[in-house]
Amino acid sequence: MVIPSLIQHKRDGGALSPDDWRRLIADYTADKVPDYQMSALLMAVFWRGLTAEELGALTDAMLDSGDRLRFDGFTMPRADKHSTGGVGDKVSLLLAPMVASCGVAVPMMSGRGLGHTGGTLDKLEAIPGFRTGLSLREARAQVERIGCAMLGQTPEIAPADRRLYALRDVTGTVESIPLIAASIMSKKLAEGLTGLVLDVKTGSGAFTPEPDRAVELARTMIGLGETRGCPAVSLVTAMDRPLGRACGHSLEVEEAIEGLSGRGPEDLMELTYALGAEMLVLVGATRDRTEARARLEEAVSTGRALETFGRVIEAQGGNPAVVEDPSILPQAGAVEVFRAPRTGVVSAVEPRRIGAAILELGGGRRTMDDTIDPAVGFVVTVKPGDRVREAEPIASIFARDAAGIAAGTAALHEAIVVAEAGRLSPLVTHRVTARGVELLAGPTGAG
Ligand code: URA
Repeated sequence: MVIPSLIQHKRDGGALSPDDWRRLIADYTADKVPDYQMSALLMAVFWRGLTAEELGALTDAMLDSGDRLRFDGFTMPRADKHSTGGVGDKVSLLLAPMVASCGVAVPMMSGRGLGHTGGTLDKLEAIPGFRTGLSLREARAQVERIGCAMLGQTPEIAPADRRLYALRDVTGTVESIPLIAASIMSKKLAEGLTGLVLDVKTGSGAFTPEPDRAVELARTMIGLGETRGCPAVSLVTAMDRPLGRACGHSLEVEEAIEGLSGRGPEDLMELTYALGAEMLVLVGATRDRTEARARLEEAVSTGRALETFGRVIEAQGGNPAVVEDPSILPQAGAVEVFRAPRTGVVSAVEPRRIGAAILELGGGRRTMDDTIDPAVGFVVTVKPGDRVREAEPIASIFARDAAGIAAGTAALHEAIVVAEAGRLSPLVTHRVTARGVELLAGPTGAG
């Protein structure tokens, strides 16, 4: 294979053949194609897109670069949820144990932080001892035993995506619908699922900010799932402000524990229940979403969901006492309150700025090999549309030291805008299925 010609062909708007994609991905995974050539090709895909045939071939090649979770002889329905990435999005931490507590197995495979967004694996690893690198054998055994495993992409699962994902993160090639779709679906199709629910983010903090592109991404992924034996449903949800209040790894684990205890912020709980209800209905565990929601609420109110989370933590080497005592989580060296700069209405809480600030504070990766500080981040207690008075506490900054507090303060001055007016856009705007797109709420907040 002559890689420079393939790059040029793609750069100039041509399509590579399924065989080109298969060999390219196999050779990249075998270290026969260097990162610099793959980066150039990714950039060409970023600008030129992929045909449907190329997208299918790329996804299959990434999926086939590794092994799959096999559930032969295991009769329980299996569901997972995947989000396209956001700031403060700790839904997976709540959802996996909640759904598992309702009799649906959740073999949840997640990724690390990408760009300005946080990753579920990084959040889980904030829990002292928690091991996300389960082998497929261990994952299956754990799913059979306690109904849930929360793992990362071990070398066995879509290794091509594992490397491409890290490469895209540092080469400005994240925000591409075909690359995101192939990345997510190559992992999800390896999980041996009965059904998949996709949370596709829209708004300024999303990889697909425009609602139309978010819907297109949802349809693209659903199409890949349906044609490969994995029924999928998607909700398009707001990422023009952080989800919940906590942003940063330890802080988000703590908020997830609050949610599993029934005390989570309203938007986080709303979205978690909405996605969980889709999961239960999709795999036939309940008749409709109303019944599904009641089952999920019961799993929380009876303490079963929190107990399941504790069992997952224990099974994966983490300290389960964290569910009773979140102070076990890594704690920031310096904490400071952030106050409203003026009286008015919050018009923006910019997730990208907050995500970038977490990176500046040491909580994200600048290069593929960086280690992250799980303790840093923000708790933002206001949303767009909230009225605030000058000097009222509206956030807290968690940093390593005084310099981090100064950087965090400057970031919040940019991220949180207090003006004359502002409004909260609807949390869930579209429901996308293989049959079509339902508009649940318009951009003005109607519905
Ligand atoms: N999540 C993924 O798994 N892959 C992407 O490309 C973006 C978000």
